Amino acid sequence: MNRLLDCINNKKIGDTPIWFMRQAGRYLPEFMKIRKQNTDFVKLCLNSDLAKEITIQPIKRFDLDAAIIFSDILMIPYGLGQNVSFKKGYGPRLDELQIDILTKVDNKTFTKNLKPVYETIKKVKKEIGKKSLIGFVGAPWTLFLYMVNKQSPKKNFNFNEITKNNALTKKLYKKLEEIICVHIKNQVDAGANIIQIFDSWAGLLPENQLKDYCYEPTKKIVEFVKELNIPVICFPRGIDKNYGDFCSSVKPDCISIDYEVDPNWIKKNIKTSVIQGGLDPKILLKNKEEIEKEVRKYLDIFREQPYIFNLGHGVLPETKPEIIKFVTSLVRKYK
Ligand code: CP3
Repeated sequence: MNRLLDCINNKKIGDTPIWFMRQAGRYLPEFMKIRKQNTDFVKLCLNSDLAKEITIQPIKRFDLDAAIIFSDILMIPYGLGQNVSFKKGYGPRLDELQIDILTKVDNKTFTKNLKPVYETIKKVKKEIGKKSLIGFVGAPWTLFLYMVNKQSPKKNFNFNEITKNNALTKKLYKKLEEIICVHIKNQVDAGANIIQIFDSWAGLLPENQLKDYCYEPTKKIVEFVKELNIPVICFPRGIDKNYGDFCSSVKPDCISIDYEVDPNWIKKNIKTSVIQGGLDPKILLKNKEEIEKEVRKYLDIFREQPYIFNLGHGVLPETKPEIIKFVTSLVRKYK
C-alpha cells in the first residue's frame, strides 16, 4: 500500500497521507549532530551516505508516508557551475552569475556534477520499502531569482530591476527550463516516484507577470513530468487567489497550498488537482489543543476529497520533534 500514490493517482479519500516539507532538518537533533560535523552544506548534500541517512531520519522517527530526498533547490545553480554557500544566519549566497559560461554547461557535465544526489536516491530507495520517494526541483522563477539576486530576496525586492537585462533573462530561463527537466529525469531514473516543484517566491511576481514567469515555464516542466508517468506536485507559494488560474493553466496532479490562502476558497475553486498542505508551520509552536484544532480544521475542510496532509511551508527549526509525532498520530486517527 502506498497512501500518497493512492491519493494522487486513484483519488482515494480518507486514510490521509502525511509528510512534511523540510521534514529532514534543523529541528531534529540527529540531523544537527551530522550538520555540526559537516559545516559545508553543499558538500553534505553531495555525500550520498550521509544524505541518505538524513533523508531517512524523519521516516524512522515518525513513519511518514513519503521520504523527500535531502538536497536543495540550489543544487541546480551549483551543478551549472554557479557556486553556492550557506553562511549561518545569512541563508544562501551565490557567486556572480556568468551567463555565457553557465549556458555552455552541457547536460552530461551537469549530471556528472550532481551524480551523488542521484546516488542518494538509489540508496534511499533500497531502504524505504513501498513508501514514496519524492524528488524535487525549484521552479524556473525561484531559481532565476536566486541566481540573479545571489541571495534570498529582501523586502525591497524590485521585479523590474531583477529582469532589466532582457537578453540575460531570456537566456537564463531557456537554460533553466532545459536543465530542470534533466535534473527531474535523472531523479526519476534513480528511483524518485513523485516530483515536487517548489516556486517559493512566486508570490513576489506582479500579477500581470505570473503567466510569463510562473505559469507558462512551470507548465512546460509539468508536461515533461507527466510524460514520464510520474505524478507532479506544484507549490507556487504566496499567489493567493491566483492558485485558481495556476491550476487551470498548469494542471498539476496535486497543488500544495501555503498558509495565507483560505482553504475554504481553495476547496470551492480548485476541482482538478488534489490538494496538499496549508497548515501554518507556526501553529506547531503552540500548545497541543490549538494544534489539534487547526489540524482538524484542514482535515474537516478537505474530508470529502483526496487530501494530503502537510504544512503551508517548511517545518520551523524551533519545532519540537514530539509535535511532529503528535500531528502524525492525529492524522492517522482521524475518521
Ligand atoms: O526535508 C526536506 O524538505 C528536503 C530537503 C530540502 C532542503 N531544502 C534542505 C535544506 C528541500 C526540499 C529544500 C528546498 C528549498 N531550498 C527551498 C524551497 C522550499 C522553501 O523552503 O521555500 C528553498 C527556497 C531553498 C533554498 C534554501 N536552502 C534556503 C533559503 C536555505 C537557508 C534557510 C533555511 O530555510 O534553512 C537553505 C538551507 C537548507 N536547505 C537547510 C536544509 C535542511 C538548512 C541548512 C542548515 O543546516 O543550515
